Amino acid sequence: MLSGFAGRAMTQSTSDMAELDTAELNQYLFTSYGLTGQFAPLPGEIDANFAVTTDAEQRFLLRVHARGAARDEIELQAAVLQFLQSIDPTLPVQRIMPSTSGELLPVVVAADGSPSELRLTTWLEGDVWAHSISPQRTQRAASAASLGRLLAKLDKALELFDHPAADREHRWDLARSEDHLKLVSLIDDPDKRELVTAVLRRFVEEVAPRLADQPRQPIHGDANDYNVLLGSDGTVSGLIDFGDIVRSWRVNEIAVACAYAMIGAPDAIGAVVPLVSAYHDENPLDEVEVNSLFDLILTRYAASMCMAAAQIRDNPTNTYLLISQNDVWERLQHLTAQNRKIAIMRLRAACRFEAVPARPHIDRWLQRNSHRCGPVFRRDLSGTNLRVLDLTEPDERIATALLNSLSNDPASAHLVAVGRYGEERSMYRTPEFETDDPTERRTIHVGIDLFAPAGEEVLAPLDAVVVGVGVETVPLGFGGIVVLQHETDDGVAFFTLYGHLSPSSFATLSVGDRITKGDVIARLGRADENGGWQPHLHFQLMSDLCGWATTEIIGVVARSQWDTWASVFMNPNHVLGLAADCSVVVERDAAWLQRERQHVIGRSLSLSYEAPLKIVRGEGAHLIAHDGTSYLDMVNNVCHVGHCHPRVLAAGQRQMAQLNTNTRYLHDNLIEYSRRLTATLPAELSVVFMVNSGSEANDLALRLARAYTGHRNVVTVDHVYHGNVTSIVEVSPYKFNGPGGQGPPEHVAVAELPDLYRGRLRYGQADAGAGYATSVASAVTHMLAAGQAPAAFFSEGILCTGGMLTLPDDYLHHAYAHVRAAGGVCIADEVQIGFGRVGSHMWAFETQGVVPDIVTMGKPIGNGHPMAAVVTTPEIAAAFANGMEYFSTFGGNPVSAAIGLAVLDVIRDERLMHNAELVGNRMMQGLRDLAATHQIIGDVRGLGLFIGVELVRDRSTLEPADHEVGAIVEEMKRRQVLLSSEGPHHNVLKIKPPMVFSNANCDEFLEKFDAVLSEYR
Ligand SMILES: Cc1ncc(COP(=O)(O)O)c(C=O)c1O
Repeated sequence: MLSGFAGRAMTQSTSDMAELDTAELNQYLFTSYGLTGQFAPLPGEIDANFAVTTDAEQRFLLRVHARGAARDEIELQAAVLQFLQSIDPTLPVQRIMPSTSGELLPVVVAADGSPSELRLTTWLEGDVWAHSISPQRTQRAASAASLGRLLAKLDKALELFDHPAADREHRWDLARSEDHLKLVSLIDDPDKRELVTAVLRRFVEEVAPRLADQPRQPIHGDANDYNVLLGSDGTVSGLIDFGDIVRSWRVNEIAVACAYAMIGAPDAIGAVVPLVSAYHDENPLDEVEVNSLFDLILTRYAASMCMAAAQIRDNPTNTYLLISQNDVWERLQHLTAQNRKIAIMRLRAACRFEAVPARPHIDRWLQRNSHRCGPVFRRDLSGTNLRVLDLTEPDERIATALLNSLSNDPASAHLVAVGRYGEERSMYRTPEFETDDPTERRTIHVGIDLFAPAGEEVLAPLDAVVVGVGVETVPLGFGGIVVLQHETDDGVAFFTLYGHLSPSSFATLSVGDRITKGDVIARLGRADENGGWQPHLHFQLMSDLCGWATTEIIGVVARSQWDTWASVFMNPNHVLGLAADCSVVVERDAAWLQRERQHVIGRSLSLSYEAPLKIVRGEGAHLIAHDGTSYLDMVNNVCHVGHCHPRVLAAGQRQMAQLNTNTRYLHDNLIEYSRRLTATLPAELSVVFMVNSGSEANDLALRLARAYTGHRNVVTVDHVYHGNVTSIVEVSPYKFNGPGGQGPPEHVAVAELPDLYRGRLRYGQADAGAGYATSVASAVTHMLAAGQAPAAFFSEGILCTGGMLTLPDDYLHHAYAHVRAAGGVCIADEVQIGFGRVGSHMWAFETQGVVPDIVTMGKPIGNGHPMAAVVTTPEIAAAFANGMEYFSTFGGNPVSAAIGLAVLDVIRDERLMHNAELVGNRMMQGLRDLAATHQIIGDVRGLGLFIGVELVRDRSTLEPADHEVGAIVEEMKRRQVLLSSEGPHHNVLKIKPPMVFSNANCDEFLEKFDAVLSEYR
């Protein structure tokens, strides 16, 4: 039992049992397990442990239990390992190997006749946490999170475990810490005794009663830094030693783990936040458990010190034990010196509990009552008088010069400059802004600054009681401070803070004074009395004073702790009501966003890549991540003319500044756009409906078809996708035959996928188009036989989810003919491929020489602005105009139309269709050249810049290389190229970059792709 810090010393020694010689061990191993091998002794307190390498190079851990060891405890450990193996074989815990006669704990008899139990378990790779934990914050966080996840899974499994010995009284059970009070007197140092007593008393008086009703279950109970193994990637590869398993409060599992995971971390709480949050995500904790965690961690340290004192009493020469206790004492002091309330808030926030439970209530009260708040200055703070500053400037001199220039411009004397809430400022460079973590400073401003001359009177915005007056003298500090307490109508307190005041102006103010809304509470201070700043008011709204003395209150916080601080420091504009943009969205790291997304965004929406990207900017054919890495974007056919194209941007901005309203007014943009759009289409397609998404366009197309034909049924092509609305999921086999789908509805018939690579008719086969179109014909025939008729046939000009399949020659020609013969209309879905992407034509259907009855457009139409369109014939449009009005609130609004026009202009002016053809051909040729050396490339197909590369393991069997495609996409991402996969077999690389994709971009891709494929040769 290597329990706790007290036990850690024992890991350095070996048991008497280690005296066993190799011959004896080999005999044990052979008689019990039929194995022979090499032995290396391992540390063990009581039992003898050996690393065994068998002659067959397998590694095991052999434990020879001490003679006379408690049989029920040995059995408990064996039982739990066996149980875990059966319930969750993925848990990285040792597997117990039965002997040749099937026993888990075979008994061997030593030469002296004494019996011992053996236990052989699998060997877990990795190094102990204590030796291998990274000092680097993000790596350490990943290790901690992986430990949290493992413990959560383990505890979920252990909840179902039962064994009589699990209910034993165990001295290391944190729930029994009351017993340690008896040992406190053994601690020599009076300071230590005092602190340990205080911690244990709090446990007895507050923590244990609070936890009385909390879940109890068997827990491992000792995830210490010598029992947790880390693999080479820094994540947990194993948890060993179930010697302390006991039924206890569930939360004790992570309390113990946290106590050890904090060792050596500059910011102890910050180091365990990832552990606790990962545990909570997997095995949600109760609020009471989370509130108790901090005290339980302290209790573990206190218990460890008591146990160590007892061990030293029994074994005074054990100096190693004394040394190992230094860590414990250091951590106990570190944690007890911390603000306990804030530590608990941080652990609450880690589990997505509101750091300050009252905050949402205060927030809602302020939302409803903000009109009751008065001004803080007499001067006019209306929007036109406000100048919002950007103080994010990393060069402190520029930021300071900006501030100084404010007071030197007489023309702007009436203006009030505003400093923003949530703004990241690098100007706080003095030691006061350091955090426990040397890699992070306090930089996020949590008040709103209002710059006005020294002497400006500051008024109370609400009735209040003074709860703090003080002067902070450090440079860049608050100078003179007043803190007021207010109450919601139902008596919940909240606070406002006024910083950078002139101390003499509030000299008569005392804590407890009652203030009436509108009273002058103080005046703004000069630079020499306000912390060295341009005169201004730092106004802060707080849900809790966190137990701080007035001069301890902070106004700038660490970004990584924003979860906690956003709950304490509320947006001050609730009270100020400034008509200006005076708050900033605080940027969060990718890990936080990913986790939060799971809670606030529907989980049916997936993310790309194993490690999702946080993209913050786009430019041309590139996307730029938060860390500045620039990725070549080869999958974004939405930002058609290039990310953030300046002409499209300007067109949108211009029109947005002028007017945006619905289409019930006359507007040039709508008509001009519709004329320009129809000019790109065959003459019969001349009536436009503007909508907002491809799905909406296809839904409207279906309604048009039904109105015109009077029929309901639809023929659709296998594996394709047309949109996310109910009516369109019903015509999308990709969805209704995919995961979660329920097959086609009775009104939908699915035509065969015209796949020239792996389908019934293949490349080079004459009349493949007509051949595949017979499937459309038979779908129609079946309908007619059942007394139905098709309203519509949906098809794309290149089948995207079908696997980027170009259509066989004349396929649409024949298919359209079959459908039309039965009275149906033909819908061309150009949502993916339209607007010149195919290079040779504006629309993909044109490459088939057909004219559809309805065309739907989306994605590229607005270069990322949400808009879409349906274009049809006057006859179909007329049939739809049956009295029921059709209106789309946003469709065709002046801003969308302006953006649509700009996209058409850019396609024309930058010759983007031609570019698509040239670069697309270069790409396809390059890919076909690569196919000569890379057998995995089965097929290269496409038109213009819409290209599929089908990967196969075997060119004759066409076995799909699906895993390989996934791995290639990930590897290309590592090389800064973004791709994705497609197709019924998930083995087609999808290439559809912005149309500004250049020859150089193409060559860069080919070169990197070649290098990556070489790894699969
Ligand atoms: C061919 C096709 N049609 C329609 C849609 C639906 O478009 P949206 O997502 O804009 O609703 C998609 C979307 O991927 C599509 O690929």
